[in-house]
Amino acid sequence: MKIAICPGSFDPVTLGHLDIINRSRKVFDKTIVAVLVNPDKHTMFTVDERITLLKRCTKDMDDVEVVGFDGLLAEYARERGVTAIVKGLRALSDFEYEFQQALTNKKLNPNLETMFLTTSAENMFLSSSIVKQIARFGGDISNFVPECILEDIIDRINAGEELHNE
Ligand code: PNS
Repeated sequence: MKIAICPGSFDPVTLGHLDIINRSRKVFDKTIVAVLVNPDKHTMFTVDERITLLKRCTKDMDDVEVVGFDGLLAEYARERGVTAIVKGLRALSDFEYEFQQALTNKKLNPNLETMFLTTSAENMFLSSSIVKQIARFGGDISNFVPECILEDIIDRINAGEELHNE
């Protein structure tokens, strides 16, 4: 069985993430969506909350498993027999960061390939950070995130955010 892993912070999951997950499903038998810790980020939602939101968005996808892991992606992939990391590549600005991670993961786990899917044109500019910024200023984010988590983001902002660093 060919298993892919879509790793990320998913703070929160966007339509761009879901697009990549759905396209991974077309190529692999199973896609693990892994909420991992990015030490460079302070997040709006805890890991457990992000897992809950992702599970809600993927509940009808039998071939998708949502997990959380607070160690190295390369190690988790080895434990789970993962064939490839699947990530979306938006603009050239993503490239250096993603290239560094891909080479590092390959060094840590030589059996693990990283595959980049060019993002869909409508998601070129989309990121969780942009979504949060629009929402914080009261803008409409309904075109950017799955409808089933829209209220969670708005509620979190209205409640006054407490940033997490897990
Ligand atoms: O959505 P993000 O924040 O760009 O995702 C980055 C993430 C979480 C995939 C990356 O920080 C990660 O893999 N974290 C787990 C720890 C790890 O393996 N670090 C080395 C990566 S080269």
